[in-house]
Amino acid sequence: MRLAGKTAIITGAARGIGRSCAVAFAEQGADLALLDIADDVPGVPYPLGTAGQLAHTAELCRARGAAVLAGQVDVRELGALQHAVGAARARFGRVDVLVNNAGIAAPSGKTAHDITEDEWQLMIDVDLSGAWRATKAVGGS
Ligand SMILES: NC(=O)c1ccc[n+]([C@@H]2O[C@H](COP(=O)([O-])OP(=O)(O)OC[C@H]3O[C@@H](n4cnc5c(N)ncnc54)[C@H](O)[C@@H]3O)[C@@H](O)[C@H]2O)c1
Repeated sequence: MRLAGKTAIITGAARGIGRSCAVAFAEQGADLALLDIADDVPGVPYPLGTAGQLAHTAELCRARGAAVLAGQVDVRELGALQHAVGAARARFGRVDVLVNNAGIAAPSGKTAHDITEDEWQLMIDVDLSGAWRATKAVGGS
């Protein structure tokens, strides 16, 4: 229970690595704000996480004793992230850890020079700028 009394925010928590992190944090005693877009994104050619998957991650964490706040948040939206961080602080009184996990895969099977500018911009917006936005939201400025 190394994280007892701590609060963590995890982006991309509906499934995969984000879910595994959430469950591991819950097993170590953390309370959790679990965020995921839980919707598909135009331009991403495979299904993203779902609201049902996000709810299931929350159930897995609660079953391990964690208090959980879960929300559909797109890391491309700073205002939504700031709102979610505010909700986590209001509920838990603190935020100790941010796991910047949300992301999309690079266009499959394409070399760098074959990627379109729209594909590149979307990838940067989610994978790079999304992590910066979440960090900014937690940092409070
Ligand atoms: N699995 C791998 O081998 C691997 C390798 C390198 C990097 N990564 C990165 O690790 C992270 C997790 O990988 P994974 O395999 O669990 O991926 P995954 O696709 O299973 O899960 C990613 C989660 O992020 C969410 N997400 C995507 N865009 C979002 C957005 N704009 N806002 C909020 N949530 C969003 C998705 O809905 C999904 O639930 C990703 O950032 C991925 O790019 C994974």
